[in-house]
Order: sequence, then C-alpha cells, then structure tokens
Amino acid sequence: MGEVGLMDEGRFREVLGSYPTGVTVVTARYPEGDPFGLTVNSFTSVSLDPPLVLVCVNADASSHDALMEAGSFAVSILSRGQDPVATRFATQPSEGRFEDVDWEENALGDPVIRGAAAWLACQPHRIHPGGDHSIVVGEVVAVEDAGGEPLAYHRGRFGAFLP
Ligand SMILES: Cc1cc2nc3c(=O)[nH]c(=O)nc-3n(C[C@H](O)[C@H](O)[C@H](O)COP(=O)(O)O)c2cc1C
Repeated sequence: MGEVGLMDEGRFREVLGSYPTGVTVVTARYPEGDPFGLTVNSFTSVSLDPPLVLVCVNADASSHDALMEAGSFAVSILSRGQDPVATRFATQPSEGRFEDVDWEENALGDPVIRGAAAWLACQPHRIHPGGDHSIVVGEVVAVEDAGGEPLAYHRGRFGAFLP
C-alpha cells in the first residue's frame, strides 16, 4: 500500500489521470446561433430509464454559462485518431474551433463532429453543483453509433483501447 497522505492537488490530478477514459466533444449553440464546444472526458452514463448521461464542466470554462442555458446539447464520442480534434476543442481561444473541423448539425440543431465513433443528442435534465465544476445531467433523446474504434485518454496522453 502506498502512502495515505493529506490531499495535494498535483497528486490528486495524477491519480485521477491513472483512470483511463474515452474522449468526447460536448457541443451546443449560443443563443445567437453560433456553435460552441469543448473537450470533455468526464462523460459518464447515469441511467437507462430514463436514459441519462452526465458531463462535469468547469465553472471557469468560457462555454460554461452558455451550456447551462442551452436547450439541448450534443456529445460526440471521438474516434481513434481524432486527438487533433480533442486538442483543438481544449485549446484557447475558443473562437474558430469549428474552422477546419468536419462537423454537421444533428436533429436538435446542435453541431456534432463528423468521423466520431458515436453521438448522443441530449436535453438538459438537471444541473448539480460539483465544487469548481457543474454536473450537467442530460436526457438522451437520440443516439447514433458509427461503430468505430474510440479514442482513449490516460495520464495526459491520447491513445487506443487495446483488445
Ligand atoms: C482529454 C481532455 C479532457 C477534458 N475534460 C474536461 C472535462 O471533463 N470538463 C471540463 O470542464 N474540461 C475538460 N477539459 C478541458 C477543456 O476542454 C478546456 O479547458 C477547454 O479549453 C474549455 O473550453 P472553453 O473555455 O471554451 O469552454 C478536458 C481537456 C482535455 C484535453
């Protein structure tokens, strides 16, 4: 057993990074219609009936407030090889993130990333406070599964899930 010490932020981040995840881009539209999006690996399934998922969004993110107000949002589950898209949607400035990225509009009018492994169209269900993040629970109203290999993220690096 390793040391059980008082929490140090760097160590906390390091330990959280040891948990492998997929990578998503969460997207919606500003009230005036412009698309916005950010890279998110805190995506988790919550409930089958009703169909619920959650994402945790940093209160400091430039798109945080718009996402809290959005009438719908989309989750694109990125494919292996889409790490440039993940990096782009995690890098400031947020303006122009959709330029040179292949995207389309889903049935709810939200932008989704073409070439993703799967997509979920969501409507807001509940928003819970979660420290410096907001826990956004969405009700899934439509899904699409392209069946490709997902992009993986572990200890700050993008990769693939091996069989
Ligand atoms: C792999 C990866 C996963 C991330 N996951 C999250 C997340 O779950 N929640 C979050 O708020 N930010 C997450 N980020 C950071 C945001 O993508 C980043 O801060 C982004 O610039 C925020 O965009 P905005 O300020 O335009 O809203 C992640 C970044 C990377 C590279």
